[in-house]
Amino acid sequence: MKLILENWKKFINEVEIVDTDEDIYDQYQETEEQEEDEGSRLERQQFGYNKETITSLANDLINMTKQNTSWKWKEVVNQIQTKYDITLQMPDSGAFRTAYDIGNNLILKIAKDGWESYKMNGEDKTLGTDASIDGIFPRVYFWSEPIKQNQYSWIVMEKVTPLKTVEEVLKFFDSNLIKKENIKDLASQKAYIDLLAVCLNSTQQTGIISLSSKQHENFILYLLNADKPKDEPKETSIDYKKLAMDFKYMSPTFQKLVKLKKQYPDVEAIELIKPYNCGVGYDGRFVVLDSSIF
Ligand SMILES: Nc1ncnc2c1ncn2[C@@H]1O[C@H](COP(=O)(O)OP(=O)(O)O)[C@@H](O)[C@H]1O
Ligand SMILES: [Mg+2]
Repeated sequence: MKLILENWKKFINEVEIVDTDEDIYDQYQETEEQEEDEGSRLERQQFGYNKETITSLANDLINMTKQNTSWKWKEVVNQIQTKYDITLQMPDSGAFRTAYDIGNNLILKIAKDGWESYKMNGEDKTLGTDASIDGIFPRVYFWSEPIKQNQYSWIVMEKVTPLKTVEEVLKFFDSNLIKKENIKDLASQKAYIDLLAVCLNSTQQTGIISLSSKQHENFILYLLNADKPKDEPKETSIDYKKLAMDFKYMSPTFQKLVKLKKQYPDVEAIELIKPYNCGVGYDGRFVVLDSSIF
């Protein structure tokens, strides 16, 4: 009887196991299908584009601007707007790329001729698709067929609104140790930015950390509400590591920059947080805009 019962139990268990497996398998398949649907739905909704449309739009723009050396913007706009049902803005142009705002928070960057331009698109793509750096760069969603390894004639990236003043940048970096009410003029704002940069560097440095300018140290002492040292000390009286810990604790953006700095130790900390080198992504997060500093 005992044996029968045990066999029965085993049988039941086996049945259960098989059932469960099938359940899981069904669920898994469902989730996969759902994810696919959800993914393409989101893609359509968020971007209003798919890869084919984007590719066609990029190629049209490349051909139209190539064919007419004195290309007439109005004609191009009319044709593109009708064909793709979008509103096209006058593009912004840099030395290497032309950036078209194609709506839906997307920027189409078309490389001007030359491998340097293609490479720059490649660098933007590398940084904009690297999940390990927490979206600190504008996200890159679509790209052309590669011309060579990591060289692209066009990429589509997230639209970023540049942070134009020190004051705007500082909103992303809170501190417990520094009184915000002390940061009221441009000089103290700049001192705060310098302090952020020194603190970012300090997370990698050992030993004594010093600011290049005595004047800025005095400003920082003022921001900290600390007294100026009486005699001229050789070493700084500011504990930058403690300040860095506080920035890390208070600002997720600072945390991301520390991580970035670990991955790219040669990049100048100040370049990451200078107005116009950084901006705000479509979801309000802080992003580093100028990939050419890497
Ligand atoms: N992600 C973006 N969001 C908004 N505007 C952008 C973006 N990328 C570039 N731009 C605009 O396009 C211009 C040219 O792009 P940029 O990347 O600087 O090209 P280049 O490599 O030729 O200097 C920029 O100065 C800026 O005005
Ligand atoms: Mg530029």
